[in-house]
Amino acid sequence: MKVVNTVAELRSLTLPWRTRAGLTAFVPTMGNLHAGHLKLVRHARAIAERVVVSIFVNPLQFGQNEDYSSYPVTRERDISLLADVDADLLFMPEVSEMYADSPGHTTHVVPPRRLSAILEGEFRPGHFDGVTTVVAKLFNMLQPDIAVFGEKDFQQLLIIRRMVSDLNMPIVIEAVETVREADGLAMSSRNNYLNAAERATAPQLYQTLLDVRDLLSGAEHVLAGIEQAAMEQLREAGFEPQYVSVRRSADLGIPNGDHGSSVVLAAAMLGRTRLIDNVKVSST
Ligand code: PAJ
Repeated sequence: MKVVNTVAELRSLTLPWRTRAGLTAFVPTMGNLHAGHLKLVRHARAIAERVVVSIFVNPLQFGQNEDYSSYPVTRERDISLLADVDADLLFMPEVSEMYADSPGHTTHVVPPRRLSAILEGEFRPGHFDGVTTVVAKLFNMLQPDIAVFGEKDFQQLLIIRRMVSDLNMPIVIEAVETVREADGLAMSSRNNYLNAAERATAPQLYQTLLDVRDLLSGAEHVLAGIEQAAMEQLREAGFEPQYVSVRRSADLGIPNGDHGSSVVLAAAMLGRTRLIDNVKVSST
């Protein structure tokens, strides 16, 4: 596996690929890799001839009071994990390579507010502008055929799909199911922040989402009531929930009656750690 830090190196290594047969799949990450990230890379490996991964902790998508400066960086470990799953190329730029001027002064790619100002966007204003801007830049640098994202960040996945469609980017977006610990906790780099007691409580976020999903299959229910009860359940378990919300999985709108293609999404603080998760509601 080759490791490069500049756009010029990335381009010179990948330019010859264009004239050859075979697809290039791209997996953007912020590093501190875990089994969830590696599943994305394995998926890329299975569907494309060439696999490129990026590791870049993007300052533009972190709020003022968020964990940008303490976000875990584990470069050597990440490189060896990616070599093990047979990635071809790792792009690991510095902030100055991605944003020549200060990040805040760059041209932004701004997703529709109807998708980006709700749920995560309500609690992390500007977050998705930072995500779409960096992902659009990475797409332009590499020009992959396919890009792979996790359903763990369901709203992010939808917003990326929307950006690719709205801006006519010739890239196929592939989604990979959330990878969980044995006790159900969705894998996340932020799980490292949890102390032992919080780690023991954390799986109740997933459990609460499963409870909401089960309640939705009941004949008579009031959506707002179920969401409020789930918030209360999380509070009792020791979380500070930010939202628990049942939405249409296609566009995150409020479902009217039929939950066959819905998703239950939640975010909650556990101590100083912010956790998010979601489960899909199937019609059967
Ligand atoms: P990061 O949080 O590192 O996640 C990189 C990719 O891994 C995302 O597509 C995310 O959804 C996926 N992922 C994370 N945890 C997962 C899990 N438990 N199971 C399956 N997939 C999982 O998401 C970002 O970085 C950034 O916003 C990025 C897209 C790289 C832009 O900066």
